[in-house]
Amino acid sequence: MSAASRIRKAVFPVAGLGTRFLPATKTVPKEMLPIIDKPLIQYAVDEAIEAGCDTLVFITNRYKHAVADYFDKAYELEQKLERSGKHEQLELVRNVLPEGVRAVFVTQAEALGLGHAVLCARAIVGDEPFAVLLPDDLIWNRGPGALRQMAEVAGRTGASVVAVQDVPREQTGSYGIVATEAFSGREGRVTAIVEKPRPEQAPSTLAVVGRYVLSPRIFDLLERQTPGAGGEIQLTDAIAALLREDPVLAYRFQGTRFDCGTHLGLVEATIRYALDHEKLSDAARKLMQNALDELGVVELE
Ligand code: G1P
Repeated sequence: MSAASRIRKAVFPVAGLGTRFLPATKTVPKEMLPIIDKPLIQYAVDEAIEAGCDTLVFITNRYKHAVADYFDKAYELEQKLERSGKHEQLELVRNVLPEGVRAVFVTQAEALGLGHAVLCARAIVGDEPFAVLLPDDLIWNRGPGALRQMAEVAGRTGASVVAVQDVPREQTGSYGIVATEAFSGREGRVTAIVEKPRPEQAPSTLAVVGRYVLSPRIFDLLERQTPGAGGEIQLTDAIAALLREDPVLAYRFQGTRFDCGTHLGLVEATIRYALDHEKLSDAARKLMQNALDELGVVELE
């Protein structure tokens, strides 16, 4: 991977079933669940665009037409908004995909795992470093987004980069877990990575969060993967093979990550974005205090 290369392509695996959010996800893909007024996928897309990506590759399946529809141009809606002078809303609708950014949809015919989903992007990504963003992981930050921070590290070092954060030991079974050399600032070289280890077997409590900058070499390694944890082709296993050949850095990003693949994570993210929202913040604070008072919870802390 050449140093200082810009990351232009971002892959969004969105082919999961979203069973945790049934019945909502019977018709609405989980990536379309909103935080305030934007669907989860839009937060990840905005983060990729901010990091410099101009080609967005969505790995989808036959149940996810809503995602493709969302990024399609809505001529009638735009005309109506234009005619009725609703310019602010028109801008919002148009900026779902800003000019100069293209969306490509690739079908993952069978749900064979995250690694397999990423491999489906090979023909579009080709032979250049690229990003993977898992939209379930929503990362809130007032400064540069997590992927932008990682693209800077990748550009400076020429290494592949995975986002990490510390988790309680009892939760290692929900994540890819890394072992690293000593950290210098926010970066540490990965020496081992294992998918969803039991707490007593985890090499550390440093968990991979759904942001990756990867060398295209990962595609060859994914081709060779046999099913791993959960019987799926795992991205983590291909990264384990990659780090035997090339440097892979763990990066402790600046920001707060919400696991919007869980009920509580989605609630937590909604609260955070409401409290940080320029128009909703004050009212949201009062609403929350009222709710706590009414339910008999006296103190916030
Ligand atoms: C995936 C990855 C895992 C990573 C996690 C982050 O797991 O396989 O290594 O830690 O995303 O959210 P999933 O949550 O899809 O089971």
